[in-house]
Amino acid sequence: MTDPTLRTPAEIVARLTLEEKASLTSGLDFWHTEPVLRENIPSVMLTDGPHGVRKQTAEGDHLGLHSSVPATCFPPAVALGCSFDPELLERVGAALGTEARALQVGVLLGPGINIKRSPLCGRNFEYLSEDPLLSGVLGAALVRGIQSRGVGTSLKHFAANNQETDRMRVSADIDPRPLREIYLRGFQRVVQDAHPWTVMCSYNRINGVYSSRNPWLLTDVLRGEWGFDGLVVSDWGAVDDRVASLRAGLDLEMPATGGRTDAEIVASVRAGSLDEAVLDEAAGRVVGLVQKIVGGADPDATFDSEAHHALAREVAGQSIVLLRNETGLLPLAADTDVAVIGELARTPRYQGAGSSRINPTRLDNALDEIRALSSREVPFAAGYALDGSEAAALVDEAVTLAGDADIAVVFLGVPAELESEGFDRDDLELPASQTALLDAVLAANPNVVVVLSNGGVVRLSGFAERVPAIVEGWLLGQAGGGALADVLYGVVNPSGRLAETIPVRLEDTPAYTNFPGEHGHVRYGEGLFVGYRDYDARGLDVSFPFGHGLSYTTFEYTDASVEADRDPRVHVTVTNTGERAGAEVVQVYIGVPDSSVTRPARELKGFGKVHLEPGESRRIVITLRRDDLAYWDTRADSWIVEGGTYTVEIGASSRDIRQCLHVEIDGDAVRIPLTMESSLGELFRNPAAAEIVMQAFGSMGGDVGIDESVLKMAASMPIGRIAGFAPGVDPGQIQQLLDAANQQT
Ligand code: BGC
Repeated sequence: MTDPTLRTPAEIVARLTLEEKASLTSGLDFWHTEPVLRENIPSVMLTDGPHGVRKQTAEGDHLGLHSSVPATCFPPAVALGCSFDPELLERVGAALGTEARALQVGVLLGPGINIKRSPLCGRNFEYLSEDPLLSGVLGAALVRGIQSRGVGTSLKHFAANNQETDRMRVSADIDPRPLREIYLRGFQRVVQDAHPWTVMCSYNRINGVYSSRNPWLLTDVLRGEWGFDGLVVSDWGAVDDRVASLRAGLDLEMPATGGRTDAEIVASVRAGSLDEAVLDEAAGRVVGLVQKIVGGADPDATFDSEAHHALAREVAGQSIVLLRNETGLLPLAADTDVAVIGELARTPRYQGAGSSRINPTRLDNALDEIRALSSREVPFAAGYALDGSEAAALVDEAVTLAGDADIAVVFLGVPAELESEGFDRDDLELPASQTALLDAVLAANPNVVVVLSNGGVVRLSGFAERVPAIVEGWLLGQAGGGALADVLYGVVNPSGRLAETIPVRLEDTPAYTNFPGEHGHVRYGEGLFVGYRDYDARGLDVSFPFGHGLSYTTFEYTDASVEADRDPRVHVTVTNTGERAGAEVVQVYIGVPDSSVTRPARELKGFGKVHLEPGESRRIVITLRRDDLAYWDTRADSWIVEGGTYTVEIGASSRDIRQCLHVEIDGDAVRIPLTMESSLGELFRNPAAAEIVMQAFGSMGGDVGIDESVLKMAASMPIGRIAGFAPGVDPGQIQQLLDAANQQT
């Protein structure tokens, strides 16, 4: 048999029958592609993902129902995003790739980088951030890491899968600017920076068209504009019309349909309604993917589960966000007299439900890990039952323990059944049994540290002010218990920063009145104003802002400067002014106060994480990419960098700006041809056009008036309508003048 890697995909495809080609572009079963053994094209495995390998050996399913072989459960994306650390994510990716290769998995289905549009989205635990730059930079790091081990990734869910409600049908109705600037931007970055081997289309529709058969999305934008040269795979069961999908640019349908849709392709080619070249191209991409997987495979590969557990602990420690530490309760000393309260300390919630559910190699819990770091007896009370059932006796026991201890460490969180792939949450509330427990504990002992376990944001307003210390633990993977103990005892100095805003109330959230839509449509009415972009625009108070996170040390920012270049460079000196080593996340936000278009007041365009010893200073440079300064211009249908003065804010969060600078940016030349629909205002903003038209109207005896106030009144009038007001002017003449002006500009 011939070695498939010695031939090009096109050469191999040329040797296949029509039926073989059709079969290649669909699954063999739930997780494998169809082989063509005659041509030595093996079957390869694609499986979840994203924060561990979910390899099922018996029955397959996409809801995490059946068991899978043990693999390291790294922190899910909700935690990873808060690390703000691409190097760390690349290491996680490399470990994921190593495990996938050792388990003979060809493509790991992830990362998921959809924007957290609403905190209610049931799958937010699988996504990185409310910000497209952060999602894109971190998503690219994961892809680089995984693929560095000869295993492919599947960047998902492309695109605009921002809710679970009606996810297999709903149309995300999004205007062009937010679609480009918020929802596609992260995907573009990952595709162009990290070249994922595959992209997975989303279930939903975008502006009425299913992603699985959207030629604009899968071909014009993804391949045409972004240069993607990998394979597009469907989300599991996302295809509703196989032939239309193939034409639109979807190469591989998963899972298997038992040959039903292969037959549709064959019939369409035979009937002449589908060009065989389209099938050849898709089959060629499948062959190309198989070749890459075969090239990266190693039947003898293994992985070191102990080393990966240690990495999972390190990463979780870097992702935990210290939200509040008012009276310096934290870090705890080894001999601090603490009581641990809350079932979640003993029974951790460490990952979300659904297709990403990993069967961990080990599982730490915070209670055991706290006991390992403490030099005293650490009493424990469950305080509540995870099923929310009535538990007065549990509360009494917890209150007694809290009253006897110096500090009560109370573990609270969202129970697993309230948060999952497949449905959205109804509210942002912690269970009433838990908040009642907290009140009772606070009454017995005000020295309370709350530790949270949650995949999506929970409301903290109403009680956060009464709790001196709050640790946001998200879902931290299998070693999260150890990582929480490390942070509580100062073994790790917290350096995670919020990748999403914690709002005061659900009603404040930008999508509140437009989520989750109705009758098959969800309107993204908040437009560009997602997350902090909206809270800042409306001047709303938030509980904890985007980018926020405390440390056990303090940092000072001095001597900021910005070098105006194609990609402007921001320099700032950061000094650790406290007593402990720690890491600071320096964030750079950009604004364009005199923009000609609507823009958020500040948008994250760069960040850097810097580790400093006590007293150490370092001058860091954060490069801003010119492309990231652009807005999507709906007239030119392209990205445009506006010329003018930009504000450059350097801060420790979106609401803790430490230095503000200005930089002059040269704009892109924008050529918007004048038409009869162009307004007088637009015409007069174009100097060449203004002069020609004024001279011409003068010589024709027309009077458009040049007086300032008249001009202001008439500014919105389309030039084609002038004929109706100036009898001496005929539309043909106006068109000639516009043509002349368009030639000169
Ligand atoms: C999910 C994907 C997942 C696939 C396979 C789908 O339901 O949306 O994220 O990769 O199933 O399990």
